[in-house]
Amino acid sequence: MKHLLKLADLSRDEIIDILDTADQLKQEKKNGIPHPILKGKTLGMIFRKSSTRTRVSFEVGMYDLGGEALFLSSQDLQIGRGEPVQDTARVLSRYLDGIMIRTFDQEEVEALAEYGSIPIINGLTDYCHPCQVLADLQTIREKKGTLEGLKLCYIGDGNNMANSLIAGGVITGMKVAVACPKGYTPDAELMKWAADTGDFTCTEDLLAAAADADVLYTDVWASMGQESEAEERKKIFKGYQINDAVCAAAKPDVMVLHCLPAHREEEITAKVFEAHADEIFEEAENRLHAQKAVMVKLMA
Ligand code: CP
Ligand code: NVA
Repeated sequence: MKHLLKLADLSRDEIIDILDTADQLKQEKKNGIPHPILKGKTLGMIFRKSSTRTRVSFEVGMYDLGGEALFLSSQDLQIGRGEPVQDTARVLSRYLDGIMIRTFDQEEVEALAEYGSIPIINGLTDYCHPCQVLADLQTIREKKGTLEGLKLCYIGDGNNMANSLIAGGVITGMKVAVACPKGYTPDAELMKWAADTGDFTCTEDLLAAAADADVLYTDVWASMGQESEAEERKKIFKGYQINDAVCAAAKPDVMVLHCLPAHREEEITAKVFEAHADEIFEEAENRLHAQKAVMVKLMA
């Protein structure tokens, strides 16, 4: 593994290895055991979009591993004034040991990897959010003891989260059921791969998707960059919500996860959110441990 561009690039064994390392790093941190595995290394973090969790967890993660992280807002970089990503990649490769980038186009992340000579980590694009789903898989495995055979149900927009959950779920042997309104389904090529490779369904019927689920997952109806569509999307997605009825269709011990930030009473009710807050905030914490594992695998 040279980069983390999208989960579909990884094998089951590579994902499990990251999760095992994440569990170990989490345990060491809880026990106060230092692990300066990336001492002397520097991660650049390029952001073209806002972030709370990704920024702070990568920065603290690098600190925990004995290295440094640089926050690079695209507004302050020449990339924000049109310097080609191909040149940015070659320049930054001469200063840094790795780059995490959050941007719009998946192609930009792929170009950084192609032209640079250091590991590139995708911190979210319009297409996918692999770091989030590694933390999600860690959280599910911690609680349920396994991933294989569990049913993961995603309800809402067929966005970056849906794409990465499908990839991560199918690769690790989960059954993945997605419920989205017509016209807002996940990436077509990825869905075809998922249906050919594993146990995958996509429907407009959210109760059918949620039936006997071990894990329910949702995300915002309007992602970063779609702010102008937010009002229209509220009408289109109305009903695509994790609420008591959806939870009742799932297994009695269902986990509810959300990548955050959440919009209460839109994609999830405040009641369900608060009832599962321990799981959701453990999931947020696991961003730190899972990403440290990714950095160790790529940069040590
Ligand atoms: N879930 C997630 O990536 O959060 P941030 O946008 O705050 O980084
Ligand atoms: N789909 C959301 C995820 C945020 C973590 C977005 O792209 O804004």
